[in-house]
Amino acid sequence: MRFHFEGTGTHVTQRLASGESPARPFHYRTTPSGRTALQCGTRSLTALATEFATPLYVYSGDQILDRFRLFQRALVDRDHLICYAVKANSALAILQLLAAEGAGFDIVSGGELERVRAAAPEALDRVVFSGTGKTADEIDLGLEAGILAFHVESEAELALLAARASRLRRKARFSLRVNPDVFAETHPYISTGMSEHKFGIPIAQARRIYRSARHHRWLAPHGVSVHIGSQIRSADPFGAAMRRVVRLVRSLRTDGIDLRCVDAGGGLGIDYEHASAFDPAATAQSYLKAITQALDDLPARLVLEPGRFLVAQAGVLVARVLFVKKNGRRTFVITDAGMNDLIRPALYDAWHEILPVQPRAGRALVVDVVGPVCESGDFFARNRRLPPVQPGDLVAILDAGAYGLAQSSNYNSRPRPAEVLVRGREARLIRRRETMADLLAPEIPLSSSDQKTINKRK
Ligand code: LLP
Repeated sequence: MRFHFEGTGTHVTQRLASGESPARPFHYRTTPSGRTALQCGTRSLTALATEFATPLYVYSGDQILDRFRLFQRALVDRDHLICYAVKANSALAILQLLAAEGAGFDIVSGGELERVRAAAPEALDRVVFSGTGKTADEIDLGLEAGILAFHVESEAELALLAARASRLRRKARFSLRVNPDVFAETHPYISTGMSEHKFGIPIAQARRIYRSARHHRWLAPHGVSVHIGSQIRSADPFGAAMRRVVRLVRSLRTDGIDLRCVDAGGGLGIDYEHASAFDPAATAQSYLKAITQALDDLPARLVLEPGRFLVAQAGVLVARVLFVKKNGRRTFVITDAGMNDLIRPALYDAWHEILPVQPRAGRALVVDVVGPVCESGDFFARNRRLPPVQPGDLVAILDAGAYGLAQSSNYNSRPRPAEVLVRGREARLIRRRETMADLLAPEIPLSSSDQKTINKRK
């Protein structure tokens, strides 16, 4: 690793050492005593890991807001609402930050609705409810909370929505989520916009369904929504999907159905592998240009549902190296974080940059960075060139702010990590580390008499 030092005096700033990127809020700093450590904004990850232990998620609230404001500024001349996709990172503190900036929320479950209620009840009327399988109870929750709109993904769901709305005597604003049959290059597990996927209603059927629902007393056609997938790096498929949606909206106008809102979903990707070449402002700009050009002069409010783009690069997972061992020709760096804490590499073969928090001098080695979970899929990186690390060292797994803790589990009976939010000079614990008592709380061990009865059964 080569370091470039900048500045003089007591605080020397290192500029863009390997792995650093202006797109990330994590940079190496060297203290007057000569110690170099990775920081989140002004806070040293070493100090945070010492205070809160590892594995630890650390997020930069400043960066999340910067990203959100990129969208807000670019859309200043257009009626719009940015509904943060709660599933990407559903920490209450992050929802609070975004709600205070005027964000709405895209939710996919009753649980996410309760998170919005807990974080920012005043934002419930800025909630859109997506998802292919809503239950009657979840629909009731949304109706009672007065959410902005339900994104309906089938005729059967629309019938259920109508029935629940009639029962509660509450008007349900809805948008059909159409499937535009547009190809977007991404991982097959997170591509959603083609006819072979379970998502949405084929766009060719949408007109008929809107027409059939228009006179229902408790249904109000509100808009149309589309979401073609996640981690999409090109603006073109967003534009293509939007053009199809706009055609639908115009044809509905001729039927006298005036949809007020077009929801372009989420899905804008980041560059996990070449973060130093990634320009968030230019990326957001070309994405928004593709969408707004397709919308043209359509008098409709634009809703967006970004998740990853707002939070991924704002977060790291800090882990401590437990052991370094060699098996055959491979060297394994074993950390105290595992696939249960961050499953993206195991699940999608996703690539996450890994940096030593306090780099040591010496030759880089090609290693596998793995966790303690009993699966060979429990890895963060394979065949990765990493600066030398020793047991006790800290490593930062980057771009872990989206779909990190949100997809974590207790597999291997491992308590989930803690989370810290950094804002300016402040660092706050926003989720305490789980304890074994948390893990055992929902369980009901057999009583001694049950054990006898059950053990007797052959
Ligand atoms: N709106 C809807 C309806 C969605 O299904 C999603 C993501 C989003 C918005 C936000 O998409 P984003 O802007 O974050 O790409 N676990 C995977 C990603 C799954 C995305 C699911 N839906 C991963 O770790 O890459």
